[in-house]
Amino acid sequence: MAPVAVSSSPNTTDALRSKVVAASPDVTFAPASEPYQRRLKLVESDPGELEITFPLVLKPVRSAANLTAAQVVEAAKSFAPAPSAEYKPSKLQQLMDAHGGAVHFKGLPIQDADEFSKFMHALAGTLPPNAGAGERNNLLVHHVDKGLMVIRHAMAPNVATANEGPPHQSIGSHNEYGLSTHYPSIIAFCCLSPPTTGGQTPIVNSLALYDRLKSTVPGYIGKIERRGLTFVIHHPVAKVQGSVQGNSLYNADSFGPTPEAKVDLKSLNEEQKRKLVEENVLELAREGGWSDSHAGGGDATEEGEGGKLGAWHERGFSWTWLPDGSINVFQRVPGIRIHPTLQKPAYFNNVGNRYAYSKEHGCLQPPHYSEEKKDFFPPPSFPLLLDREGGAASDQEDESIPLEWLEEAHRWTERLQAHVEWEQGDVLVIDNLAVQHARTPWTGPRKLVASLWDQRSYLDKNVPIRT
Ligand SMILES: [Fe+2]
Repeated sequence: MAPVAVSSSPNTTDALRSKVVAASPDVTFAPASEPYQRRLKLVESDPGELEITFPLVLKPVRSAANLTAAQVVEAAKSFAPAPSAEYKPSKLQQLMDAHGGAVHFKGLPIQDADEFSKFMHALAGTLPPNAGAGERNNLLVHHVDKGLMVIRHAMAPNVATANEGPPHQSIGSHNEYGLSTHYPSIIAFCCLSPPTTGGQTPIVNSLALYDRLKSTVPGYIGKIERRGLTFVIHHPVAKVQGSVQGNSLYNADSFGPTPEAKVDLKSLNEEQKRKLVEENVLELAREGGWSDSHAGGGDATEEGEGGKLGAWHERGFSWTWLPDGSINVFQRVPGIRIHPTLQKPAYFNNVGNRYAYSKEHGCLQPPHYSEEKKDFFPPPSFPLLLDREGGAASDQEDESIPLEWLEEAHRWTERLQAHVEWEQGDVLVIDNLAVQHARTPWTGPRKLVASLWDQRSYLDKNVPIRT
């Protein structure tokens, strides 16, 4: 077992403490220390790697009582990316890269979802009137959900409730939509009301997770690199309140018709509705460059610069309709991607939370169905290559992952996590390609809202690992 290169912070001699960020004439941010911060090396095996403080905590030098929301919104603009067709890192990205992918802004005078929305739009950057449309590539734009399994409600422009699952329900570690082709590059949470107890947001660096798992369970990581991962997501027909995966499959943000499609579901028969859903599932797979196995098979052994893609590429997405009209969607993804700026492999997936749900509901063994919840909670699995002789893929061709590997991944996640504590007005900004997040249960009036963003120039560089 490799030593755990994590120690508690704060380290008051941290050189970064002396660095201040003059964001605007009114507001200067300075690094601050919080007990939950960690000191760690992202890659232990690299002798040139320095210890970092994870995450960075930034506070305005002036107290929130002496600042207005408008002043911090103006200051946030200095962190934003510049318009460009090509990728150019923002100041925010540089800070995130230096601190494991997360920045926790504290001491902000933000009171509600509208002010948080304005803060995030300032961080997103703006396109000048004379700029070309292609220059939007480097700006942050609203993330539009597809294949969404959780219930969220809009609160303000590009701000929605975080997962509305009940307070006693913890959420395991995951990259936001790391089980799909379609995921945001930046996610941010804002605390409108803190919990009385619990309710932390544990975060963990995906590069560090890859590094530790590669050295302690190389068989597990090697198999993900060759095969990828399969996540089976159950989507009910109608919305299920009180569930962490209760979104209706026919919602526009799941697999139903989008507003632009202008299709009235009531005018379709059952077969037509299913066809529409199936097309949207396939469209989601194609968006990530997946082969279309339902349309005649792809090429899993596609050679490219640096090697071959895994079995996930050929198997793509598939589905099973269930007797009650609900659907299980089989989403096969790489599971490990090369981080765009740090150029190192990142454990980018939802193994942590899908395994935790499956274990919690007693669903680790087939048929993975919870009588109590009336829902499916299968653990992640490995895609198998298509049988070239036998023709079409079947869902049974996915292979179970040994539970001891999943347990080891869970243990490493816990060892490396920083448990972010919340105060009113806090904003946590996360590079989704570098950091997984989770949620602990709470008591009290905790209210967190979320904002998801895409930076096209950055997402395009988040390539799957090749073997
Ligand atoms: Fe999430």
